[in-house]
Amino acid sequence: MDCGRRRLIVATAAVGGVGAITAAVPFLSSMLPSERAKAAGAPVEIDVGNLAPGQLITVEWRGKPVWILNRNQAMLDTLPKLDDAVADPKSEQKQQPEYCTNPTRSIKPNLLVAVGICTHLGCSPSSKFKTGAEEGMAADWPGGFLCPCHGSTFDFAGRVYKSKPAPTNLEVPPHTYLTDTRILIGEDKKGA
Ligand code: FES
Repeated sequence: MDCGRRRLIVATAAVGGVGAITAAVPFLSSMLPSERAKAAGAPVEIDVGNLAPGQLITVEWRGKPVWILNRNQAMLDTLPKLDDAVADPKSEQKQQPEYCTNPTRSIKPNLLVAVGICTHLGCSPSSKFKTGAEEGMAADWPGGFLCPCHGSTFDFAGRVYKSKPAPTNLEVPPHTYLTDTRILIGEDKKGA
């Protein structure tokens, strides 16, 4: 018996009167497509209206963690200073859609949207947002991300530092803004 059929029988057996059956049907019809859509890697919509400057949230898209970081001015100010320290400062290796090939690697300058998976062997980098040695980094650390597996470091645009195991910058997934604060991750205006 397939999974969907089993669920339908259980739901029918669990309800008593006609009213209860009527109530159960919309629930089933709204849940099942969403499960199917999830499995197929449907786009994920997220409202970032309450994301404070300097705050990062992680959402799941196609089983991958996607970071959304609302970079504050201090974070943004580090980026141009690091062009000589990172391996691919202009993101010429195409780890982002065309509309994010810019100095901040983003559509809106403050909001970084990036897949939180190291491009070396797939570990999850940790946030090391504090400058200096406070979080166990070098004294001149400007803030960014550290992959705990083999030490790759990334700046606030997900650009990998030179001479690190990760071969490329973090991936920026296709995404678009539905409104000023609602982001659709997994699809853009080109339908990617
Ligand atoms: S997996 Fe990140 S440095 Fe190796």
